Amino acid sequence: MSVFTITGGSSLSGRLTIHGAKNSALPILAATVLCPGVSVIHNCPPLSDVAASIAILEHLGCAVTQSGSTVTVDATHLDRNDVPDELMREMRSSVIFLGAILGRTGRAEMCYPGGCELGPRPIDLHLSALRSLGAGILEGPDGLACTASSLVGGDITLSIPSVGATENAMLAAVAAQGVTTITNAAREPEIVDLQDFLRTLGAHISGAGSSVITVEGGHPLHGGEHIVIGDRIVACTHLAAVAAAGGDVELTGVDYRHLSTVTSVLAEAGCHVKSGNDFVRLRRSGPLTCVRPIRTAPYPGFPTDAQAPIMAGLCTARGATVFVETIFSSRYRHVDELTRMGAQIRVEGQVAIVTGVERLHAARVVAHDLRGGAALVAAALGAEGTTVVEGLQHIDRGYYDLDGALRSLGAYIERID
Ligand code: EPU
Repeated sequence: MSVFTITGGSSLSGRLTIHGAKNSALPILAATVLCPGVSVIHNCPPLSDVAASIAILEHLGCAVTQSGSTVTVDATHLDRNDVPDELMREMRSSVIFLGAILGRTGRAEMCYPGGCELGPRPIDLHLSALRSLGAGILEGPDGLACTASSLVGGDITLSIPSVGATENAMLAAVAAQGVTTITNAAREPEIVDLQDFLRTLGAHISGAGSSVITVEGGHPLHGGEHIVIGDRIVACTHLAAVAAAGGDVELTGVDYRHLSTVTSVLAEAGCHVKSGNDFVRLRRSGPLTCVRPIRTAPYPGFPTDAQAPIMAGLCTARGATVFVETIFSSRYRHVDELTRMGAQIRVEGQVAIVTGVERLHAARVVAHDLRGGAALVAAALGAEGTTVVEGLQHIDRGYYDLDGALRSLGAYIERID
């Protein structure tokens, strides 16, 4: 079992390049299945979730090579249409392969992704989107069996702008004959990135970034090359770490516009934020103050993935800050751990009230999920003494070499195996 040991109290300074976005890389890797050719994906972070996607691609019969952060997928000889149960369990977002496999082969089989550490993760919207395109889906006790002798474009209206359902609908629609319109689509930057990749394959798709995406499906696809966008949530985590520990850090490799709801909260709390085309700089010298209520919402609202790290950053902000988590039902599992470090946080349902304390102190804490784990690291950097963080398998799903990145900014953090 690996742990981080983090000795807090020293401020962070320097420059850091943010790695590629996990939540872009995963659907883009799934999308490579659609084209009987070679896709080259750059800035693909070497994370455990990316490794799980590569394992799925290899299981399907794709030839995959990895060199640094470039992944090359040759899906020419794809000859299977199922995802093994253990990979579905390892990475619940592997359901994103459903639309792509169905689009390429006309059949797809996989077990249910099930609930996860964030609460139930239903896929009803994914399935009804695929049904709108003519897929027949059998929901058996052990899993899903989907068939579509030919997918046909249609109108899909999502009752909530689900990121994964939008991605699955886009992937299947590219393979469907005719025009598909996805209404109330998710507007996240990762959706725009997926559209950009699909276009390099020859797909006719537009509207990503708005609530209506239009796909003219059925065009022949060819191989393509793409650079994954920088990870906005990794960037937010580093900003939260600076808010917690103090210092002056410049992040590059990420689009500052993707961070605006988070940087505006940090500015309101008393940090100095400067941003330009390819950088965000955050300086925190004095004490922080509480901010107006933070309500998570689909993009362009405040990201649920940044809720835990920013909460960690505001644990010592004077006054009380209210968080309202509207996306996932179980996304406050970091609260008990932050409380162990001296934070004063009261949770009632989807609301958490953080009353700023003078200082956090070291404790032995456990990461229960990816972003909650990252929040504990941010909090520990600002705490007195040496904190031990367990549960690194969660953090490793979304942060490549988090300890190395923080050490380069002057943090005292070690991974002990
Ligand atoms: N939902 C349904 N039915 C569905 C699909 C979703 O009710 O068929 C509900 C979910 O239960 C949730 C809400 O809709 O309450 C939003 O879920 P969404 O589908 O948008 O999330 P997702 O696609 O499963 C992605 C990210 C998450 C991120 C959310 C929200 C990936 C691989 N995952 O999940 O990232 O929190 O969007 O922005 O892109 C993370 O990186 O830590 C992470 C959890």
